[in-house]
Amino acid sequence: MFVFGTRPEAIKLSPLILQARARNNEFETVAIATAQHRAMMDDVLSAFGIKPDADMNIMTPGQTLFMLTSRILSGMENIMEQYQPDVVVVQGDTATAYTASLAGYYARKKVAHVEAGLRTGNKWAPFPEEIYRKMISSIADYHFAPTETSRQNLLKENYPDSAIHVTGNTVIDALLWMEEQLRGAPCPLEDFAPVLERYKRLVLITGHRRENFGEPFLRICTALREMAMKNPDVCFAYPVHLNPNVQKPVHAILEGIGNFFLLPPLSYPDFVWMMRKSCLIISDSGGVQEEAPALSKPVLVTRRISERPEAIEAGVIKLVGDDTDKIIYESQRLLDDPAYYKSMARGISPYGDGRASERILDILSESLKV
Ligand code: UD1
Ligand code: UDP
Repeated sequence: MFVFGTRPEAIKLSPLILQARARNNEFETVAIATAQHRAMMDDVLSAFGIKPDADMNIMTPGQTLFMLTSRILSGMENIMEQYQPDVVVVQGDTATAYTASLAGYYARKKVAHVEAGLRTGNKWAPFPEEIYRKMISSIADYHFAPTETSRQNLLKENYPDSAIHVTGNTVIDALLWMEEQLRGAPCPLEDFAPVLERYKRLVLITGHRRENFGEPFLRICTALREMAMKNPDVCFAYPVHLNPNVQKPVHAILEGIGNFFLLPPLSYPDFVWMMRKSCLIISDSGGVQEEAPALSKPVLVTRRISERPEAIEAGVIKLVGDDTDKIIYESQRLLDDPAYYKSMARGISPYGDGRASERILDILSESLKV
């Protein structure tokens, strides 16, 4: 049983679900959508052609963490009873992933954690994801770690070596598959294509982390505004996350600048197309930090701390936090200094080779054999 609810979980579990369904002599596959994200999850499922077996439809506008976790957990009771899975597979560190793993434990089922072992060591950043992922680890029977660093994090917390498997991150499976579909495609955004033609370079932006809400978000948006005004020949595009805590400050600060385009969240194919077209990405997204290095795109990460040190250590992404001056300085340097730009745009992919799903399914198949 695969359980997912948000955009990134749907992206990262889609390759696994499709491959498990194809290996139907080994697996009976059930895909459960909590729909923690209604529209953003649906967009991903339609891009991958996946129809969930059950949809809990739990999203409410402006939902709190209390509402979210209690609604998912109570909904999972019937799902567990109805499907009686051998293993519940969850991905990452969202409310859906945590509560589905807890539901699996309550129902005394095995739990597999995809993207296990990421840690910042700070329970408030990312909030609440650092605690969710630690709680999932304490429940999980299988820890599918994307990298050796994440494996080491789990070993330090005394999880047994035999339960930890380094597989790569399934996001790279999704990305490579989508790139293959897009090969040579023109700009899929009809209205935006003529806009893009007017500019030589594109800076792509995303942002949604809870710990950045309030003042940090305002500082980040102020930096973006300054950058757009200093560089009228560069196109700045920001597909804005639907969370009202993001929509409000972004529209208040960034609307009305000629070369700054606030877009609705993009479908996964459209977003991958835009990443490939961009010269620089400014983002606090976990998934984008993993994908962009594989596409040779530098990322300035608007976070103070990251659980993804591999790309930082490789020098292909850089933490800039929420300091307005630092964001402006680092972005301008990447736009102005070709040698510096080249040193970051190196096409290193620390998070996988596109075969993570296959490895995970091989391990599950072998271990669940009756
Ligand atoms: C969630 C995850 C976060 C993940 C992020 C990916 C939790 C607690 N947080 O944060 O770990 O990085 O997703 O994007 O699990 N909304 C819509 N339509 C949508 C999606 C969201 O309207 O399709 C709006 C709703 O008002 C919703 C709000 O966004 O209440 C917040 O969604 P929620 O899933 O609670 O939090 P995110 O900030 O999206
Ligand atoms: N993404 C997308 N459309 C967008 C912005 C991002 O499809 O408009 C994809 C992106 O390629 C990545 C994932 O969504 O795979 C990241 O999701 P998000 O930033 O919401 O969550 P996080 O990864 O930070 O948990």
